[in-house]
Amino acid sequence: MRKTIIAGNWKMYKTIKEAIELSNGLKRELFKLDNQDIDVVLCPPFTALSEVYEVITESNIMLGAQNLYWLDEGAFTGEVSGKMLKEAGCNFVIIGHSERRQFFGETNESVNKKIKAALANELTPILCCGETLKEREAGKTFDVLKDHAQNGLAGISKEGILKIVIAYEPVWAIGTGKTATSVQAQEAHKFIRDLLAKLYDQEVAGQVRIQYGGSVKPENITELMQQPDVDGALVGGASLQVASFTDIVKKAAEVLK
Ligand code: 13P
Repeated sequence: MRKTIIAGNWKMYKTIKEAIELSNGLKRELFKLDNQDIDVVLCPPFTALSEVYEVITESNIMLGAQNLYWLDEGAFTGEVSGKMLKEAGCNFVIIGHSERRQFFGETNESVNKKIKAALANELTPILCCGETLKEREAGKTFDVLKDHAQNGLAGISKEGILKIVIAYEPVWAIGTGKTATSVQAQEAHKFIRDLLAKLYDQEVAGQVRIQYGGSVKPENITELMQQPDVDGALVGGASLQVASFTDIVKKAAEVLK
């Protein structure tokens, strides 16, 4: 049985003050819910990690970062290491988000190094993969998923992959209000799971969690979560408000009943 994981990717939103306010609100609301069956993760900007950690300690909410560098320390101006994230209270780190691939030159090679660094620092990597609209229309969705997953996971052992979460995020559905239909999401998730069976084995395919991301909202979470290979969501815009993120977690919990 794969445990549902709902993560909020706050992207470059929320000052420290706003982040404290949002995480306090979420803690209050989610505390009331019986969400023991769900991993809830907040991924604020680096500047707010420690403060959000202070708010959510002793709650059932966990902390994640949005990126890391693959070395522990050194002369790498502007970078943050896995060791630093761990110390700040993180358990998770998003790696290879399409915005990083698109705007910051992230490649499968850098993604792969970052995954290894995350695992070495006992952080759970959330490996993002997904096609652009152009790639989908050209019938290349599965090729892109294979490229992102297979190369991102190069050299990762079975022990390693079992600690990784994969996020399928079709680029055309991110921040656009266009969600992949539950059928499209299920098809992509199933493809990734079958690929894991080929790259590793059935046990890995059965255990690795695959989240969907791209315009997830309270209105579409139920149908997405009803798909057999959708194990959670990576939420952008709707994670920035207490009401919408709480609603998403609540509705995901209802599907589990
Ligand atoms: P939206 O939910 O705003 O579409 O963002 C999705 C995303 O990129 C999460 O990582």
